[in-house]
Amino acid sequence: MVDAPIVLYGYTGQEDVSEVAVFFQEPNFYYLTGHDEPGAALVLIPSSPTGPGPEGPREILYLPPRDPKEEVWEGPKIGLDDPGIAEKTGLPSIEPIANLRSDLTKLSKTYANFYTILPPPNEEGYPHFTDSVMLIREAIPHSNLKDIAPQLYAMRQLKSEGELALMQKAIDLSIDAHFDAIEIMRPGLFEYQIAARMKEIHEWGGCEREAYSPIVGAGFNSTVLHYSALDGKIKDGDLVVIDMGGEYGGYAADITRTLPANGKFTTRQREIYDIVLGAQNAALAAVRPGAMLYRGKGSLQQIVIDYIRNSKGRDKEGRTLERYYPHGVSHHIGLDVHDPGDRDRPLEPGMVISVEPGIYIPEENLGVRIEDDVLVIKDGYRILSSRLPRTADEIEKAMAEGHARNQQ
Ligand code: GLY
Ligand code: MN
Ligand code: MN
Repeated sequence: MVDAPIVLYGYTGQEDVSEVAVFFQEPNFYYLTGHDEPGAALVLIPSSPTGPGPEGPREILYLPPRDPKEEVWEGPKIGLDDPGIAEKTGLPSIEPIANLRSDLTKLSKTYANFYTILPPPNEEGYPHFTDSVMLIREAIPHSNLKDIAPQLYAMRQLKSEGELALMQKAIDLSIDAHFDAIEIMRPGLFEYQIAARMKEIHEWGGCEREAYSPIVGAGFNSTVLHYSALDGKIKDGDLVVIDMGGEYGGYAADITRTLPANGKFTTRQREIYDIVLGAQNAALAAVRPGAMLYRGKGSLQQIVIDYIRNSKGRDKEGRTLERYYPHGVSHHIGLDVHDPGDRDRPLEPGMVISVEPGIYIPEENLGVRIEDDVLVIKDGYRILSSRLPRTADEIEKAMAEGHARNQQ
């Protein structure tokens, strides 16, 4: 896609120095290399450069030297001189990271342009991309640095079979965890207890971590979109929004179910639940190649807003309910739970998106979200999280069966 070298740095392991931090790789670097150790870099050289091209390897992984002292604490790392290193990393050419600077200088005699990920205008958190750009600029101050993010993010939006297998594993473990929540849910438990059981199922099944900060919100907390305290006691009559997904092989699941704490929806809760479910079904029916998430009249977002507005549901003032739907219907899912890329790109087969309408009425302590993970296919969609009950009847039935099993 580009006619100039691409330079990417992985994370150094210094990004988060807290005692609980566990190293994970920068997602773009991981996407292109699968390498998940700190301090590495990648250079990709185009196969048909404009002008005289350099001979030699076109995919080079740069690794830090092994550090025996540190390995006493952290365990063995992949080293440059390891036998079978090319097979192990899958990259044909491995160089010491100390050579990167001079290699870039050499390449800059052939290429005027270089690509890397430029820091987004509002880079949040630690300044990884800012640091990387600084290192590259120090090595090749006269070269023109361009942003590879658009091309890379566009690639990441289309999942390969291998990626889909990892996502399905993350989704299946997350479904198992939601089933457990359905089975154990009862008034008197704390929100964190539901989350604890679900996290155990993720990790027991091999998830490296949660794909995002767990949301288990009961009563009023069900209306807080990114509720994270999880310290509330679940009361009889509460609805409980459970938005939890594990990460497996780097890939995220993102699933929400809304349960009645005591196993039975009230008439009002079921009314709102059915509107959200209807909105989700309407949005799902529109998922196919060419569909838009946010732009235009036929977009998934507009379908959900129209569905909620045109439903019979009203608030206490007799107003229609679309004002209680304050978020987006969908995002791409992949290595990141909110995978990057152009959300106005028409859908294509191989994309995985969430479909997640909700209605949150704080004055009634009543929040409902239903969120499934959906693969776009040639003639429509496939719900990857379809094993989990979705209708109010199915949820009540699964809860009753779960409680019966629990009592045996
Ligand atoms: N769990 C984050 C989201 O649903 O987007
Ligand atoms: Mn989501
Ligand atoms: Mn979610």
